[in-house]
Amino acid sequence: MTGPARPAAALTVVTGAASGIGRATASALAEAGHRLLLLDRDATPLAAVAGGTGGTALAVDLADGPATDALVREALAGTPVDVLVNCAGVGWPADTAETTDELWETTLAVNLSGTFRMCRLVLPGMVERGRGVIANVASAGALVGLRRRVAYCASKAGVLGLTRALAADHAGQGVRVFAVCPGTVDTPWVDRMVHDEPDPEAVRRRMRERQLDGRLGSPEEVAGWIAFAVSDQGRFLNGAPLVIDGGLTAV
Ligand SMILES: NC(=O)c1ccc[n+]([C@@H]2O[C@H](COP(=O)([O-])OP(=O)(O)OC[C@H]3O[C@@H](n4cnc5c(N)ncnc54)[C@H](O)[C@@H]3O)[C@@H](O)[C@H]2O)c1
Repeated sequence: MTGPARPAAALTVVTGAASGIGRATASALAEAGHRLLLLDRDATPLAAVAGGTGGTALAVDLADGPATDALVREALAGTPVDVLVNCAGVGWPADTAETTDELWETTLAVNLSGTFRMCRLVLPGMVERGRGVIANVASAGALVGLRRRVAYCASKAGVLGLTRALAADHAGQGVRVFAVCPGTVDTPWVDRMVHDEPDPEAVRRRMRERQLDGRLGSPEEVAGWIAFAVSDQGRFLNGAPLVIDGGLTAV
């Protein structure tokens, strides 16, 4: 982060905090001393994460942009936000023929529009105070094409483009914006992805094999990078994808 030390009252907002990478990020940031506002549509696990991290839980559906904007504004009640981690995301395996209007629109609404709206909500305050960091969790699928992930890859490439444009607009104002591009990480997301496949273990094996390290990442590994990158020590990272993928995009 640039600028003077974080005021005690400033908040860090994490979306998608009820599960997986978002949950691990909330824990890592709590350990680093952040005061958290945690967002997710899944209220029960979110409340548990808030309890464990000393954060405040706010149940929102990011697919409903205007309602989410209003709820977040009300929860913040003017409290400054120094750090925003946009981690909420959805995705389903689908090639073009399998991609219905609903699948396309929901994927774009949560992953891309949800990220944009959260950035738009906190940026004016960050610019006014001359300090702030935004981490947008994209995916290795923003950098390479993944099979049967048409809407997902399009949405995550959009997140990367959004991130670069925001970084260009706000560099020099004390605000930096970067993307996080994980490879395949062992979260409930992966469990859901493989669940309906005829041979789930074979799909998991292929996921492991496409990463040079021959294994899936852990949510904590990604969270550790995010916690470092939003800290002062990560301050030279701006407008770029932080690729944490066990070698998925190297070959
Ligand atoms: N797991 C992976 O292999 C992997 C790889 C690359 C990128 N990612 C990205 O990391 C992020 C987190 O993924 P994860 O693996 O931890 O998945 P996850 O399913 O464990 O967590 C995603 C969270 O987002 C929340 N969410 C989804 N739709 C929402 C909505 N409309 N409103 C509010 N909250 C909503 C879910 O309730 C869930 O708690 C996602 O953006 C995903 O695209 C994951």
